[in-house]
Amino acid sequence: MAQTWDPEAYARNGAFVHGMAGGVLEWLAAQPGERILDLGCGDGQLSARIAATGAKVTGVDASPQMVATARARGVSADEASAESLPYPDQSFDAVFSNAVLHWVRDQDAMLAEVHRVLEPGGRFVAEMGGHGNIAAIRIALSAVLARWDLAGDSNYYPTPDEYAQRLRRHGFEVREIALIPRPTPLAEKGMAGWLRTFRVGALESLPEAARESVIEQTVVLLAPVLRDGNGNWTADYVRLRLIAIA
Ligand code: BEZ
Repeated sequence: MAQTWDPEAYARNGAFVHGMAGGVLEWLAAQPGERILDLGCGDGQLSARIAATGAKVTGVDASPQMVATARARGVSADEASAESLPYPDQSFDAVFSNAVLHWVRDQDAMLAEVHRVLEPGGRFVAEMGGHGNIAAIRIALSAVLARWDLAGDSNYYPTPDEYAQRLRRHGFEVREIALIPRPTPLAEKGMAGWLRTFRVGALESLPEAARESVIEQTVVLLAPVLRDGNGNWTADYVRLRLIAIA
């Protein structure tokens, strides 16, 4: 299911995406002067943080709205799909990606491209949804959408073994790969805000009159497991974090 992005809703309800990226940025350990590609740069928040280390950062994203937002932040960003990158071979010392790879439909085409644009010995440092990611949210939303004959989340959340094998098939040496449970407190609008921000594709495939009801029913199903006694929501995120060498 195609995903569309609203940069304003993303800034309001998705601030945790860059706010909780400290771990993967540490794994990247960007150095001054390094050429780094931020694959799926979104609104450019993390590209700007990486550039502040003195690295030369290029962002790339498939969403024209996100590319425009990243450029407005001063990030050099290109609009392109991860499966077909617009850069010559060996253009980068490192490819970085946060919270994006699980959206990519053709993982093999994407990994072939990442390998192609890296210098030999260059590193691919990424964090994505891993096995079991947002399991409760997926089940609840699928159950509600089934009433409209629609499928839920078709994102890809692999185990470390599965993804390590895939990386090796593309010529990478896997240095680190780990599954990291990361319960994520949601902003003020809670699960309804999350669904409106991250499940736009599913909601837009419903008749407009049904959208609020789908959100409400999903929220009701999830409240007993993801909302605490004070009304605060926590999403059941699980991350897969990796370093692989080309
Ligand atoms: C994630 O980062 O794991 C994610 C975010 C939104 C929708 C699905 C997955």
